[in-house]
Amino acid sequence: MNANRRTFIKTLSAASALTAAGGLQTALGNAPAYIPNLKRVSPNDKIRIATIGMGIQGNYDTKAALRNPDVELVAVADLYDGRLQTAKTAFQNPDLFTTRDFREVLARPDVDAVLVVTPDHWHDHITIAALKAGKHVYCEKPMVQHINEGKPVIDAWRKSGKTMQVGSQRISSAAFQEAKRLVQAGDIGQINYIESNNDRFNAIGAWNYSVPPDASLTTLDWDRFLGDAPKRPFDAKRFFRWRNYKDYGTGVAGDLFVHLITGVHFVTNSLGPTRIFSSGNLAYWKDGRDVPDVMTSVMDYPKTDEHEAFQMVLRVNFANAGKISNVTRIIGNEGQIEFSEDNLILTKKKLPLAPGYGNYDSYFTFTPEVQEEFRKQYDAQYPPEARVAEPAKEVRFDAPKDDDAHAKHFGDFFKNVRDGSQGTIEDPVFGFRAAAPVLACNESYFKQKVIRWDPVTMTQHDTVAGSKAPARPVAMKGKRA
Ligand SMILES: NC(=O)c1ccc[n+]([C@@H]2O[C@H](COP(=O)([O-])OP(=O)(O)OC[C@H]3O[C@@H](n4cnc5c(N)ncnc54)[C@H](O)[C@@H]3O)[C@@H](O)[C@H]2O)c1
Repeated sequence: MNANRRTFIKTLSAASALTAAGGLQTALGNAPAYIPNLKRVSPNDKIRIATIGMGIQGNYDTKAALRNPDVELVAVADLYDGRLQTAKTAFQNPDLFTTRDFREVLARPDVDAVLVVTPDHWHDHITIAALKAGKHVYCEKPMVQHINEGKPVIDAWRKSGKTMQVGSQRISSAAFQEAKRLVQAGDIGQINYIESNNDRFNAIGAWNYSVPPDASLTTLDWDRFLGDAPKRPFDAKRFFRWRNYKDYGTGVAGDLFVHLITGVHFVTNSLGPTRIFSSGNLAYWKDGRDVPDVMTSVMDYPKTDEHEAFQMVLRVNFANAGKISNVTRIIGNEGQIEFSEDNLILTKKKLPLAPGYGNYDSYFTFTPEVQEEFRKQYDAQYPPEARVAEPAKEVRFDAPKDDDAHAKHFGDFFKNVRDGSQGTIEDPVFGFRAAAPVLACNESYFKQKVIRWDPVTMTQHDTVAGSKAPARPVAMKGKRA
């Protein structure tokens, strides 16, 4: 823990003691740390939610949550006043409780669940505080900003007994559900390779979101935004374009790769890769950002009881001025699944038993006698039926027009809240197993080394370059070591 973080937590605890008597103070740090159920959500009750971080995705998430029946928005926390005001109109409630201080939301007994939709560096702090305060949590992806923050979140969730969902909503789509069904039914054989690229060539796509002209130290809470990140003077670009800076975001890997990995783990029942390597460059968007805009990551998934070993290659190029054809493919030895928008195409292709001969082959180099003997043996070994392949098949799956993955992802969360269950489709263990490899992609890029990860124990391993010595676990590093 660095000095900034210590001061920050001290301030937080002191302030919380002032703002909310008793309960909230314990919720933010001191034992006994967990507040028992303040109010159970009965199957007939409305679930009352509060959104913490009402920026772009906060608005989308809240609307998706509210597309479920019997859900009501009762409070919003955000650091920029304009967004608090806009929330009252967007959600048609002039009396909506709004605050800059998320602890005031956690102190409200009428809040059952919170949506954590802040920049990545706040996810673990707010999630843990919310669980300790007895709230159910929907936390945006990536679940944490650094690998060493994952287990504390999982521990807090386990101790709390509360429901938690991580927000890579695409796994709740009909297309991903169908992909899982096809893969588990063996329709593409054994998976050996997964590839995905997500190229862009526009400023908004490269995260240069609009900065409001009234942004100032008066209209937003800069100190709280920084949280445990290094202190620095006010900079509106950092506040509104936080993804461009590793102090607050998680780069292209945490922003984009994480969705794909989540999908792959869902479809294959994989726990994660063991070896991760990235390379890349800041090629075009030299606007002060300190994360790459071109990055390729290679991950090795080991053989498990669920699948054979496979390789995954992920790429982002925010400077692709060429023809962009983004694609995500899961390739097996009997076919492939290719995703397109909300749909997928399954291609099935099986080799015949007989290898064939002739054309570009060594057969023509044999003497006529040897060729004749070769044909005899071939005919004996491969009857006609062994020489024909099953015809290749292409099957297209179109998701129902009204398939609403985002609302369904929230629906799964709310169902578990009502059932008093922790068994969401993307619980924090699943969420961390998806987040850690993408965070390792960043570590690999910045440290220029292969990262070894144990997906079963969720532990990062160190390696000695060039050594065949078994990987050994490394101690958890400080947050910003
Ligand atoms: N699941 C998805 O498809 C998806 C899509 C986009 C973004 N996201 C995730 O959603 C999160 C938010 O992204 P965004 O694009 O909406 O960012 P954003 O900058 O538009 O919004 C973030 C908001 O959080 C507020 N905030 C920051 N610190 C806070 C704090 N301590 N307390 C209360 N509010 C705080 C800011 O004022 C800001 O309005 C990120 O983690 C991002 O990765 C997920």
